[in-house]
Amino acid sequence: MRSPLILPVLLFSVMTVSVACQAQKKANTVKSKPLLQTIAANFEDGAKQYKALKATLPPDRFPKTFYPQTGKSETSGSGWWCSGFYPGTLLYLYEQTGDTVLYNEAERILGVLQKEQYNKTTHDLGFMMFCSFGNANRIQPKAAYNEILLNSAKSLCSRFNEKTGCIKSWDSKDPSDFLVIIDNMMNLELLFETTKATGDSSYYKIAVTHANTTLQNHFRADNSSYHVLNYDVNTGAVKQKKTAQGAADASAWARGQAWGLYGYTVCYRYTKDARYLQQAEKIARFILSHPNLPADKIPYWDFNAPEIPNALRDASAAAIMAAAFIELNQYTKGAAAREYLQVAETIIKHLSGPEYKAAAGTNGGFILKHGVGHKPAGTEVDVPLTYGDYYFIEACKRYKELSK
Ligand code: GLY
Repeated sequence: MRSPLILPVLLFSVMTVSVACQAQKKANTVKSKPLLQTIAANFEDGAKQYKALKATLPPDRFPKTFYPQTGKSETSGSGWWCSGFYPGTLLYLYEQTGDTVLYNEAERILGVLQKEQYNKTTHDLGFMMFCSFGNANRIQPKAAYNEILLNSAKSLCSRFNEKTGCIKSWDSKDPSDFLVIIDNMMNLELLFETTKATGDSSYYKIAVTHANTTLQNHFRADNSSYHVLNYDVNTGAVKQKKTAQGAADASAWARGQAWGLYGYTVCYRYTKDARYLQQAEKIARFILSHPNLPADKIPYWDFNAPEIPNALRDASAAAIMAAAFIELNQYTKGAAAREYLQVAETIIKHLSGPEYKAAAGTNGGFILKHGVGHKPAGTEVDVPLTYGDYYFIEACKRYKELSK
């Protein structure tokens, strides 16, 4: 005979588990009030800085960097890989402040950028066109933006090769070379979104093929990634594993690890394929357990930089990691989820302090200081970077928008 106690006991257990799950979800997303105040100030301060940055720009140029020692700004044309970050940051700041000067400036510069939708010489179209037009279309959907995003996705797909299973990053003089860099994972969001917008699965298929090939070949046993892989375009075999922007071929270039972390988190968002979540978590574990990750979680420009502990930090890598960790927190549970959020908080807190956040009216109008662009080439070293600002403001926005 069934005991009369079974039903109430069962009900009680189900309710306890449900309450525990809710409590755990809450614990994973409990937000720091002081940090939310800091973030509110970051939006206001960022808006003022970007209005100052706007005032320095020649009409058809994009911000690139600023050299504090000489007080000189450097700009780029629309074809530079970073041209989407300026409009993207303006749009994020507009959303947070409601300041239409920022929106109007974003619209103006989008007009200069739009011709890049037909650029088939670069893999950076996700950075250039999705961080800009993708945000513009999210805020104020327009048929013209949809068209530009679709053409940009087509241009990006023109660099996909069946034999290698990848989108080509950089062209090379040797016709058998097919160069792919880990950064390219960041361009896949444009393709996933294009499939969502059009219902045409070919973009999605190219994105997952690229992600799968990269997962198979780009990572080392410790889950760090190489920067550049050179595939043989005739056979699809990997010819070389090397670096361009890192300290050494075998080193872990910090921004590369950040791109991989963010990229696989995005792949999981669109596919719900557990392998991508696992890869993002493996990259997270590499970063978070690395003995050279400083206590403030702002990484050195390369985890194996020979100058450590005197190596430069890369604020841009930290900002990208913070934005990615906040999203990864949403897909995970328990201690790991809490750790991702805590690390993001630590990064945002330190980037918001005077060591990394520029004082009003300084830094050429950029928000963050101390980014490292290309250390081996000696370009954009220890300077503000448009992508540092973009992912910093994105991380602040993501933190603010986490459900309580
Ligand atoms: N190639 C993009 C970067 O510097 O991260």
